[in-house]
Amino acid sequence: MDIKIFDSAQELDAFAADLIVSTVQNKPAPVLGLATGSTPLGIYAKIVEMHRRQNISFQHVTSYNLDEYVGLTPDNDQSYAYYMKSHLFAHIDIPSNQTFLPNGMAEDLEAECSRYDSMLQEQPVDLQLLGLGHNGHIGFNEPAEALTGGTHAVKLEQETREANARFFASMDEVPELAITMGVGSILKANHILLVVRGADKADIVKQALTGPITTDVPASLLQTHPRVTVLLDREAGRKLA
Ligand code: F6R
Repeated sequence: MDIKIFDSAQELDAFAADLIVSTVQNKPAPVLGLATGSTPLGIYAKIVEMHRRQNISFQHVTSYNLDEYVGLTPDNDQSYAYYMKSHLFAHIDIPSNQTFLPNGMAEDLEAECSRYDSMLQEQPVDLQLLGLGHNGHIGFNEPAEALTGGTHAVKLEQETREANARFFASMDEVPELAITMGVGSILKANHILLVVRGADKADIVKQALTGPITTDVPASLLQTHPRVTVLLDREAGRKLA
């Protein structure tokens, strides 16, 4: 694992955006794996700025998001489809028919998960951006005795619903189910970019990166991947020796 610790959010965002843009520029048909949440916001803002100022084009890019809530339509402002559109897709030139998220409105969730996995198999992810949950989750792969490899529907942990409640009007509105790429699908990416910010994640960062590889900390499975770049701010990295 290549771990880098940054003094400022700007430096971290610029480094991550450069890495994503270099993947986009160096491949004829790049496939990006994208995440939502608060962690990537500064990175997406930087990418939008690079698109505008340096004319970086995303016309040849395909993207797959990690996850989506079940039961929210793409025009619901809490859906991840809406998040991606408002923070990234609407501001760059990526064709909308090349951006994919699991369909949380699918009637048959199992069929939707297999459809998503088949697409990922045909277009393997070159660079997968990940955030980290306080309990060690990646995507919505929560700590469990056993983890699911492929894309699957998952019941969200109370802790995760509470952490995400800040984006909703009330806790009742936070969906109970989501569709997520599985840890197996995530680990198939050629290069993984894990980004973590904040003192509140320092303990889980240490466990995930240096602790035992265990399904109790899903992110610890990243230790088995040959090409992981970890970008931390000072606070998130402060427990690493
Ligand atoms: C988002 C996702 C989640 C988040 C994680 C951290 O698509 O899959 O695993 O990356 O919950 O969330 P933030 O960045 O809001 O702290």
